[in-house]
Amino acid sequence: MIPTIEWTEDNKVKMIDQTVLPHELKFLEFTDYRDVATSIKVMNIRGAPAIGVAAAFGMALATIEFKSLSKDKFLSSMKEAAEIIKNTRPTASNLFWAVDRVWRIIKDFPDNPQTLSDLVVEEAKIMAQEDITVNKNIGKNGAKLLNDGDVVLTHCNAGSLATVQYGTALAPVRAAIEDGKKISVIADETRPRLQGARLTAYELQYDKIPVKVISDTSSGLLMRLGKVDKVIVGTDRVSSDAVFNKIGTYLVALAAKDNDIPFYVAAPTSTLSLQDTVDDVTIEQRDATEVSNVLGKVRIVPEGVECLNYAFDITPFRLVSGIITEDGVFTPEEMLSKYKK
Ligand code: MRU
Repeated sequence: MIPTIEWTEDNKVKMIDQTVLPHELKFLEFTDYRDVATSIKVMNIRGAPAIGVAAAFGMALATIEFKSLSKDKFLSSMKEAAEIIKNTRPTASNLFWAVDRVWRIIKDFPDNPQTLSDLVVEEAKIMAQEDITVNKNIGKNGAKLLNDGDVVLTHCNAGSLATVQYGTALAPVRAAIEDGKKISVIADETRPRLQGARLTAYELQYDKIPVKVISDTSSGLLMRLGKVDKVIVGTDRVSSDAVFNKIGTYLVALAAKDNDIPFYVAAPTSTLSLQDTVDDVTIEQRDATEVSNVLGKVRIVPEGVECLNYAFDITPFRLVSGIITEDGVFTPEEMLSKYKK
């Protein structure tokens, strides 16, 4: 896949507009950090690692906008930019991780604002590059879990489109195929935004990786019928006791446990938020029309009936067979002892 997001030579943020996929491959370009924030909120760009990089690029645009201000004014404007960017989506830790990483440079404000802006732009570009390297390492580590002929079920889109490139949950699939194994994917459609049907199917077809789409309610049956060998999902945040990922993930994990199918979570370390427990994490609730109306268009629920739209699920560690990071594959306990400070 082509990069989901990039910094252009003329200092613009360029991204694939994921709201119009799979029908149209359209690119958006932004020079104002406020527009980047909106693009995260309305999900032109989505997926935890991708919104992390978008947040860093947004901060970089803000430094360009404010670099001619006095130091005090610059800092207060940058604080406002950081708040606007952080307030777009509450669950994925990468967003906060990315803004905080950029803020560490701003904190040591060099005298020359131009130098500071250059440093922030450079850091954001490094973060985008690092994302690809991290995902390739997740791929190498996760590919060892896959056997020739395996069918991998995934939920939502934790592929190239959810990152800068290569993906997290789909990285082991890509790497195993690069190693010569025959691997195919079953993608849950992932109501209500249909990231599985629209995005996972699109990017796998684009890269000629075999994929079949199922309704979300089918995954348990397919496991029972022996048509799934492994489950790999991505994550938006890993706390000290659970994995947060797209709504529906918990039910997939329960079905996997009941059918003795390994359930793996691909998690770049930028997603680890091990100081949190489940009670500290805000589950994003999105507009109810995403549930009541298919893709925001045709209403399928009677007028006047309320809908609930929690966007993320909580999957307890007891259902997780392994967490695949850029450093290796760990049980949740091993992961905690490796990374928890
Ligand atoms: O609401 P989204 O589309 O941003 O949710 C994305 C997911 O839940 C992904 O599975 C997660 O971000 C992991 S992405 C590598």
